Amino acid sequence: MDNKDAHLIVLGNEKGGTGKSTLAMHIVVGLLDVGKKVAVIDLDSRQKSVARYLQNRQTFMVNGGAKVTMPEFIVVAQSEASLIKDREIEDQKNLQAGLDLHKKKVDYIVIDCPGNDTYLSRLAHALADTLVTPLNDSFIDLDLLGEVSSTNFQVKKLSFYSEMVWDSRKYRSASGKPPMDWVVVRTRLASLDSRNNKRVHDALEALQKRIMFRYVPGLYERVIYKELFPNGLTVLDIEKVSSLSHVAARQEVRSLIDNLNLFE
Ligand SMILES: Nc1ncnc2c1ncn2[C@@H]1O[C@H](COP(=O)(O)OP(=O)(O)OP(=O)(O)O)[C@@H](O)[C@H]1O
Ligand SMILES: [Mg+2]
Repeated sequence: MDNKDAHLIVLGNEKGGTGKSTLAMHIVVGLLDVGKKVAVIDLDSRQKSVARYLQNRQTFMVNGGAKVTMPEFIVVAQSEASLIKDREIEDQKNLQAGLDLHKKKVDYIVIDCPGNDTYLSRLAHALADTLVTPLNDSFIDLDLLGEVSSTNFQVKKLSFYSEMVWDSRKYRSASGKPPMDWVVVRTRLASLDSRNNKRVHDALEALQKRIMFRYVPGLYERVIYKELFPNGLTVLDIEKVSSLSHVAARQEVRSLIDNLNLFE
């Protein structure tokens, strides 16, 4: 598979509910907000969170809500062929068709993966120019990256997920592409500056060189990141921000996008 044109941003990890779809929507709207053309591919055909979000956005606009910018979007469902080999061939064909449809027309393609290991998700990881992995604020979530000593943060063993990212990297370099930028962000951070919060921060700081990701600040736990779902909006879409918390939320989203280093 080849995708030379649009920059491919993949939201992935193998843990449910860490904030991939929420982050995906905010990255999409943040990119639209600065005039970029964006397409979205939802690989989570069970939940279809991002696709539903975007349908809500479309409906909101059609029903006379404020005019909002829209990305192109499609859902690529997992093949249901009975043989593994056939499923893989079909998954590959369907994902490639989705990429081909958009890659010449947009600046960015954002792919939202499900919170479990699927062949489609692996294919997307192998193609990612930027991989964004959200983690929640807990040592349990660090297991997603590897088994880590709690005293000196040495990595005792890489997780299956990190191994998979490693394989994706090898695949990319074998096909002559520039290295993937793997960005780990913490999401749903508690606003209290707790000791746990600090320890997870220290652990990620220590791990980034060893596991080869970039650790950048993410999003706090805020109602505004979820309450606009029914209208398919984000805090970046609201014309008048009514509280300091909204101002901070916008700032958080914008700095996250800046930290993804997507603009040349
Ligand atoms: N920063 C945040 N602040 C408040 N709520 C959040 C935040 N990020 C995510 N949530 C909420 O947490 C829940 C899980 O988020 P989300 O669906 O984005 O995770 P996910 O990683 O895509 O899950 P899955 O693996 O099941 O696809 C949702 O109810 C969402 O609204
Ligand atoms: Mg999701």
